[in-house]
Amino acid sequence: MTILCEPAARAGQLSPALGGDVQIAGTLADARRMLAADPVESLVVVGAAIDLNEALAFAEAMRVERPAIGVVLLREVLDVVVLTQALRAGVREVVARDDLSSLADACARSRALSAQVTGVPQPRTDERRHGQVITVFAAKGGCGKTTLAVNLAAVLAAGGERSVCLVDLDLAFGDVGICLRAEPARTIVHGLGMLGHVDATGASSLLTACRPGLSALLAPVEPGDAERIPASLVTELLEVLPTMFDFVVVDTPSAFSEHVLAAMDASHHHVLLTTPDVPALKNLRVTLDMLDLLSYAHDIRSVVLNRSDAKVGLTMDDIDRVVRSDIRAHVPSSRDVPISVNKGNPIVLDLPKHPVSEAISRFAREHVLAEPVVAAKTSKRWFR
Ligand SMILES: Nc1ncnc2c1ncn2[C@@H]1O[C@H](COP(=O)(O)OP(=O)(O)OP(=O)(O)O)[C@@H](O)[C@H]1O
Ligand SMILES: [Mg+2]
Repeated sequence: MTILCEPAARAGQLSPALGGDVQIAGTLADARRMLAADPVESLVVVGAAIDLNEALAFAEAMRVERPAIGVVLLREVLDVVVLTQALRAGVREVVARDDLSSLADACARSRALSAQVTGVPQPRTDERRHGQVITVFAAKGGCGKTTLAVNLAAVLAAGGERSVCLVDLDLAFGDVGICLRAEPARTIVHGLGMLGHVDATGASSLLTACRPGLSALLAPVEPGDAERIPASLVTELLEVLPTMFDFVVVDTPSAFSEHVLAAMDASHHHVLLTTPDVPALKNLRVTLDMLDLLSYAHDIRSVVLNRSDAKVGLTMDDIDRVVRSDIRAHVPSSRDVPISVNKGNPIVLDLPKHPVSEAISRFAREHVLAEPVVAAKTSKRWFR
């Protein structure tokens, strides 16, 4: 999709040169509103009828606020002054008003640059594509669910080969936005109006672009909004998001809520966290027994031990006796973890060689990327 800012009469002539779907904005203020509703838009063509100073101010603002967006400017006359000003403001290309073939080329170059250089992911919508859903859960609070979910999502997206969406299902107290320093302009609460008919376009309008390849569906920010989200919205979103992303990583609250069960139902992989202390281990045991009771497959499960090196009087034998299954990752304890949270930069990106980053990267490599995808349950047991 491209936004063309130009009075409607002339827009019709230009649209075919832009390729694909085009949204027409009468003014730059309209273009801004359209952009706010579409976090993955990558191209705005500003027509010759729009005032030059307004166009330059818009390009300058985009350069800071949405660097993945390319601004292509059309002008009646191309002179050195306009070209210099445009370049300074961050306009990608200036094209003569009637030169439709140069416009088509400029748009193609800008799109390629957005995808390859500035890299904000363009979620592809493909009904046949089926990304993996990974739910990170622990029944005890503070075990490191958000830390693992954020870092797992970041490491899967790193390098730009895969697209990843991180979903914050801790609806009341979600802090994914803070961990990634992402502005929660749109959150899951804006999806309420789409209930019953969530599609890829609607879902993508709820997302916040966080890093190249990484988008997030953030938790509500207003008190009371969490209670307004029905589990069926989670089910719908987790049906659509895997058609848009290679991986959907779900962070959860520390309770077996109906929303968490909706996510478990939609998941190809359950990542269950514990720390080496008796209450967390007891809660992990209860969780494993509960998942068995609900007949979730064992082979989609990974147990991860966070703060694995904490000296708290329990041996690995003590831990194994409670867990009774393979522990697939041991993530050490380090003060660099909260430091990375305070910086708003996941430790796997900030310090990729750090032992915590290496443990999470190894887990992603060996147990997420290397293992064949098991189909998620097709019959949703809980919520429709
Ligand atoms: N391996 C680690 N080493 C040091 N600190 C850690 C580690 N993992 C998590 N933490 C810190 O522990 C605290 C709790 O972590 P986190 O928020 O990820 O847990 P949570 O399970 O999501 O908690 P909640 O149940 O409140 O959502 C945070 O301050 C985090 O920085
Ligand atoms: Mg959390």
